[in-house]
Amino acid sequence: MHKVIFDTDPGVDDAMALLFLHKHPEIDLLGVTTVFGNATLEITTRNAQFLHREWGISAPIAKGAGRAYHPERFDDHLASVVHGEDGLGNIGVPDDIDLPIDPRPAFQFIIDTVRANPGEVTLVAVGRMTNLALALQADPEIAGLVREVVVMGGAFHVNGNVTPAAEANIFGDPEAADAIFVAPWKVTIFGLDVTMQTIMSSAYLADMAAAGGTEMRLLSDLSQHYIDFYRQRVGLDGMAVHDSCACVYLVAPELFTYRSGPVRVVCGGLADGKTIQAPDSGRRFEGSAWDAQPSQSVALGVQPDKVLSMLRDVLAVGR
Ligand code: BDR
Ligand code: CA
Repeated sequence: MHKVIFDTDPGVDDAMALLFLHKHPEIDLLGVTTVFGNATLEITTRNAQFLHREWGISAPIAKGAGRAYHPERFDDHLASVVHGEDGLGNIGVPDDIDLPIDPRPAFQFIIDTVRANPGEVTLVAVGRMTNLALALQADPEIAGLVREVVVMGGAFHVNGNVTPAAEANIFGDPEAADAIFVAPWKVTIFGLDVTMQTIMSSAYLADMAAAGGTEMRLLSDLSQHYIDFYRQRVGLDGMAVHDSCACVYLVAPELFTYRSGPVRVVCGGLADGKTIQAPDSGRRFEGSAWDAQPSQSVALGVQPDKVLSMLRDVLAVGR
């Protein structure tokens, strides 16, 4: 059983990933922590409450960071053009959802949950990594107590999606991401190299909606705006299931191939937010910022058809 804290900025593809975590029988969702990103923190937190209510998810929700980790970093690049003004495809999510929020800030929820389950918790972070960086700053010992950190973010051999250099989750808080990648814990990273190969076509989603129950109908409805974005701006008939890739990995790591080596994030300048790995098996660069940093795993290959069919098998089962 995988004990998971899901750190998220829902977000359309976040919503699909959340439903996958909720429904997969080998995943025990211990909590959901929210962060700003696809929309403001108020909206992403309200969206987590909404999805919990609609899908009957009982895991606690803890509200996280509404601004970047570094005090001088100001990110106003919210993704309403991708995810809609309400962060969930403009389906008309009510302003207030009557569902309790854990009284602790997300970083404290993470610390307490990790300490209560030493060696067992996987942190799955699919938004800006601000909450994880704050948790690590407040209690660095948790690095030795977490089972694994799984991240959706970055772009290694492909362009970014906010700038030619940077992917959104990293661009929104580069200092936080760098702190996560150099910490002494195991990190596995799913960037655009694999997620932009994992495209769920609109027909595939429609088939899932027809086969699934009310959960799938909501997921399909809230995904339509995101699909329109991909059609108009990216030229694809479908959508990248970014955040779900990180979640499928938990139960099917064999569907990806990986490269090992330290990862750093460019913080500032023209390539702000760019992720760069120094492969363990490659040329040595002595005296660089990658020296003596922990080796992390970066997914560079994927079997998209198998990832999509796993999503279908788990999501489109009514209950
Ligand atoms: C990432 O950015 C967000 O818009 C998505 O939810 C995903 O986590 C993709 O770059
Ligand atoms: Ca996300």
